[in-house]
Amino acid sequence: MLIKRKDNFSTKLIHAREPEKKPENALNNPIFMTSTFTFDSLEAAEAAFEFETDDYVYTRGNNPTLKILEDKMAEIENGAAGVAFSSGMGSISATLLSLLKPGDKIVAHQILYGSSYKLIKEWLRDYDIDGSLVDFNDFNKLIEAIDENTKVLYLETPANPTLEVIDIEKIAELARENDCKLVVDNTFASPYLQNPLDHGANIVVHSATKYLGGHGDLVGGVVVADSKDYAMNLKFNYLTELGSVMSPFNAWLILRGIKTLKLRMEAAQTNAQKIVDFLQAHDRVKSVNYPGLESDKAANIVKRQMVGPGAMLSFELDESVNKIREFVNSLKYFKLAVSLGDIESLIEYPFFMTHRDYDEKRLYELGISKYLLRISAGLEDTNVLIADIENNLQKL
Ligand SMILES: Cc1ncc(COP(=O)(O)O)c(C=O)c1O
Repeated sequence: MLIKRKDNFSTKLIHAREPEKKPENALNNPIFMTSTFTFDSLEAAEAAFEFETDDYVYTRGNNPTLKILEDKMAEIENGAAGVAFSSGMGSISATLLSLLKPGDKIVAHQILYGSSYKLIKEWLRDYDIDGSLVDFNDFNKLIEAIDENTKVLYLETPANPTLEVIDIEKIAELARENDCKLVVDNTFASPYLQNPLDHGANIVVHSATKYLGGHGDLVGGVVVADSKDYAMNLKFNYLTELGSVMSPFNAWLILRGIKTLKLRMEAAQTNAQKIVDFLQAHDRVKSVNYPGLESDKAANIVKRQMVGPGAMLSFELDESVNKIREFVNSLKYFKLAVSLGDIESLIEYPFFMTHRDYDEKRLYELGISKYLLRISAGLEDTNVLIADIENNLQKL
């Protein structure tokens, strides 16, 4: 399944919000590796401090390379403005701190990336902010969890590592009715496959470390909001003070990665679909999680909300834990690693890696068993990837 986008997305990825004329007529943007900017006069400095001019002051507040990335992200997420951060967690923590005050409550979907889970469930508690985790696919439970103190609803879709899909439109409606902001982590889908703001979300957060950068060579984060005022408040009252600013060099690498996002996503998705077909037909595979399956309970939501199901999948092996450990250790092309969205195919064992701090009983309730492996399909030849899985399953 890959619905063709009708908005000339490749052209947007390459050309949107690029400066019309670059220094020295360069095709590509220079990297402004400078901590501070100089002024011709004190009057010019005063005007910049008063936001009367767009002159740059200091890279923790603003920088021309970061600005191109922020503008391009706003364009490709159909938002009002973007803000770049030093990491995905930098963007998520600053966003939540900007929206929540002591006494407030955040309600999040029960399956979250580990550090987001810890931030919401444990860390915010120390600041008297109640973090409640419920199943967003159980609408009655979600309605029950929202009270007059709830200011934020937070979700990832598809979720990590079960690839569960949440109906953004439905949750956005609930957020509006309850005067809450809906924040969606769009890392797994990327802006090519899904634009949460189009479905009513207020704020999108990204780990740009993943598909946006795309080459596993940087850590970065980006927020895109539906309101320019909110984004400016986040940038100049939270990013600037909390300080998790992105390096201009990383912004330049992400801008380079974004140009090939569509090509990379489509190629990785094709590999993922072929791997899913192979796994589904294999007798040692107990179950496969992939939003592209017709049997997926969210298949209709996927069709409405996503351009394609993406390149992340997970599956359970019908083998002992020792055999599964052997399998993971013997793969040649699926590198054992926690990240995703890279050129290289990656495999991850959530129970023993990313989710090892969770309560075991809870993991089972969430469908994250000792037998579950997660794959981020890369761009290698499909036959090589499938042969790697097939040969190493055969050896067990
Ligand atoms: C869904 C999701 N959100 C956020 C993050 C955090 O991003 P970063 O590692 O760039 O801080 C990750 C990292 O793996 C992730 O998978």
